Amino acid sequence: TSIAIFASGSGSNAQKIMEYFDNHPSIQVKLVLSNKEDAPVLLRAANFMVPTYVFDRKTFYETTKVEEELASYKIDYIVLAGFLWLIPLPLIHTYPNKIINIHPALLPKYGGKGMYGMKVHEAVVQAKETETGITIHLINEEYDKGAHLFQISCVVEANDTPERIAEKVHALEHTHFPKVIEEWILKTRS
Ligand code: GRF
Repeated sequence: TSIAIFASGSGSNAQKIMEYFDNHPSIQVKLVLSNKEDAPVLLRAANFMVPTYVFDRKTFYETTKVEEELASYKIDYIVLAGFLWLIPLPLIHTYPNKIINIHPALLPKYGGKGMYGMKVHEAVVQAKETETGITIHLINEEYDKGAHLFQISCVVEANDTPERIAEKVHALEHTHFPKVIEEWILKTRS
């Protein structure tokens, strides 16, 4: 079974996923795609000898090039690991219940457009939340509204900064995302 990872940023989640599936008996990360040609995630992919593919908005939304690239690698599942663009409908239809995303909060709280990265943790601090966490969910037509596969919380201390919260949330992501991906694939692959 082949996975493609889409990422826009540092790719620490992508790193953990490539480590987890390195030498896996039946699941491989076959491709890493990004919308940013200088994204550090591309270097992480190179370290694992995983091919990469960079695209811009026009390519992603006005051509079938990304779908063709995925098909050429016979990709079965897509993992969004810090990918900040909306997934185009045709791609969602090609990969029904096969696109897995991670969100650094307890959806439906702090979800929706524009709520990503530090903005989420700043909003959590602003609201004086006593907990936050991560949500791993499927992508469907409605942004951040796909079925939840996994959710886990962590405590927010009164004096926690957004950076401190980001550290705790990243730790949860790195611990749980690879395993949740594996479980979903083993449960649903044909
Ligand atoms: C993570 O916090 C994830 O929840 C969000 O984007 C961030 C990606 O971080 N979707 P990294 O690039 O994997 O380090």
